[in-house]
This record gives sequence, C-alpha cells and structure tokens, in this order.
Amino acid sequence: MFESLDILPPDPLLGIAAACKADPNPKKVDLGVGVYKTEAGDTPILKSVQQAITQLTAEEKSKVYIAPQGNADFISGMQNLILGDLANTDRFVSIQAPGGTGSLRIGSEMIAKANPNATVWASDPTWANHVPLMKSAGLNLKNYPYYDTANNALKADEMLSTISKLGKDDIVLLHGCCHNPSGEDLTPELWSAVADLAVERGFTPFVDIAYQGFGKDLETDVAGVREIFAKVPEMMIASSCSKNFGLYRERTGMISFLSENAEKKEACRTNALSIARGIYSMPPSYGAALVGLILKDENLTKIWQEELAEMCSRMNTLRTLLIGKLQERGVEKDFSFIERQNGMFSFLGINKDQIDRLRSEYAIYMAGSSRINIAGISNNNVDYLADAIAAVL
Ligand code: LMR
Repeated sequence: MFESLDILPPDPLLGIAAACKADPNPKKVDLGVGVYKTEAGDTPILKSVQQAITQLTAEEKSKVYIAPQGNADFISGMQNLILGDLANTDRFVSIQAPGGTGSLRIGSEMIAKANPNATVWASDPTWANHVPLMKSAGLNLKNYPYYDTANNALKADEMLSTISKLGKDDIVLLHGCCHNPSGEDLTPELWSAVADLAVERGFTPFVDIAYQGFGKDLETDVAGVREIFAKVPEMMIASSCSKNFGLYRERTGMISFLSENAEKKEACRTNALSIARGIYSMPPSYGAALVGLILKDENLTKIWQEELAEMCSRMNTLRTLLIGKLQERGVEKDFSFIERQNGMFSFLGINKDQIDRLRSEYAIYMAGSSRINIAGISNNNVDYLADAIAAVL
C-alpha cells in the first residue's frame, strides 16, 4: 500500500528550525519559526507557568480523561481574555482544542459540515499552514488582497472591495492581531468596515488569534475582534496559548462559535464535540489546566501579564534596534515599516537570492517569504545580522 506514497519535502516553516539546528556555524541566527526567545536565545518556561505547575502538581490527583469540552476555568478565562464582558451571551460557546492548529482544524471541519459549498477567504499572504490545514478539511480556499510587499503597506481598498462582493457562503479568515507573516494589522477603522460588511453581506468572520498581547497590549490587540463580535450574528474564533503563555508543546488552544441563538449554540457545541471525537476524542489536559489556574488567580494573572508585557516590549525594542543598525550601515532600502508593524513577524522584503545567500554565507535562517521572527534578534547578533543584510543588499 505505501508504495503509492512519495517522500514529502520538509514543512516550509518547521523545516527551517531543523536546518538551523543542524548548522555547525557558531554565528548562526534562527529567524524562522515563531517562537519567542530571550536575549540569551532561550525559550524558558514563564514564571507564572512555573508557579501554576507547582500548584497543579500538588492538586492533580488523577489522569482520567477530562470533559470533552475541556477545562471550565480555562474556557471561561480565555473567553474573558479575548472578549471581556461580551463573552457573557448564551449565543457563544467554546471548545478546548489541541493548540491553535487543532482549533483551526475543528473550525474548518465545522465549516465543511455546516456548508459544503462554503469558500474560505484568507489574506494574501497568510500563515503558511492555513492553506494545507483548510484544504485537508476539504474546504475551497481563495485569497483576498492584504499586503503590498512592494510598498510594505496594507491593500486596504482592494481588501474591502473583494470582501464587499462576498455573501452567505463565504467565510473571511482574519488574523486577530500581529498578522502572520506580515506584522501589518488592520486599523480600527478597517476592523469596523469589515464588521459592517459582514453584517451587510452575510459572510462569516473566522478570526485566528495566536498572539494576543504581543502587539500593543492585551486589550488593544483584541479591539478589532470585539468590534466584529458585537455586531455580527455568527462568527468563529480560533485562539492559541502557544506564544503568549509560552506553552508551545502543550498544544493549548480553543475554538469558539458565536451563533444566532442559544439553540444554534448548542448545535455548534455538540457538532464540534462530535468532530473532535472523530479525531482525538478529548483535548490534552495539561496546558489548559495551567492557563486555567493562571487566569483564575489574581496574583498569577498579574505575574503573567507582566511577563507578557516584557516579551512585547522586548520585541518592539528589537524592531527599532534592527532598523537603527541597518541605517548605521548606510543601507538605502527603507526599513522603517518594521517599526510600525506588530508582533513577532515582518517581511524583510528581500529576494530569494538574498535569502539564500544569508543562509549559505552567514547561517542566517528565515522563511522563504523573507519573514523574520523578530524575537530571534538579540543585542549579541544584531550587528552580525545587519552586516549580513547590508552585504547581500
Ligand atoms: C510560525 O508561524 O512560525 C508559528 O506559528 C509556528 C508554526 O507552527 O508554524
């Protein structure tokens, strides 16, 4: 049977980390996969998470299955984090899922089940895994214009013009904040315009939010999501704790559904559980238990918020630092857009040949799109990085 299978190339993003790890060059710089790193290049367990681990170890008495819907404290804490008081409606329900990807997959299967004629519209460009993930669920996928790589700006008019022609069989996939890969977010006015168009045209917004707190702050980062939520009859939200809680390997996420009424909410809940049952039965417990403990405890929440604010501020400082270092080297290309953008990623806007040279001559690794993980920069490597970029430019 397996003779019909071909060997596949490495995943475009995960393959970069593996290639960089295998590179013996001591000066290597990993700007690939979206993982937060400290100045020392580590990704330590957050202090708030460590305290929650201690508490959980003392309290957990069994490894019996958790409820299929997930950990109640996790769900209410996360709903409140994303939506505040808006979450208190009987039209809204969430299911804990394995990471942001697992959440997106349940959401995608739900779309395929609810409307086999649906088309999902993703931003051009979007997270590299959105496309194969949604296609695996059998969905039709199209793009709406989003980011102008030549001018490093949003294609706002083109985006609105495209989605203003959509209707009830369409789903518009939006990045809640810190757009991956561009770092270019919708302005408050654009969020508002998208919300109004969703109401007018009847398409369903599907928000993927994996970086809350990495852009400006926990509240500002979700203002757009809240604006949509308050206006539309139906929407979906896939959220992840991989980055903002640093729980990457614990696969901690949540898929949420806003529906027209309480009865349809129950239909969403039961269908999502049935989909999950067909894939993995019930979600992994550990990460969500930790997040549940953190968000329930005022003191732990405060420690976590401080750690998150520190990660966010460090990435914003690194954005400014890199631009300054490039300017010092007399680089002509204007990189000031990097400072304006949000979160972990920006495109460098260099070509394939330059990306290949950075990798082969300098052991500097980034995505094939020229997306860089800002958190991979440090005071130690920024001069080397700026020298190399200046050289290949
Ligand atoms: C990324 O975009 O680098 C991260 O979200 C990691 C991943 O799974 O692709």
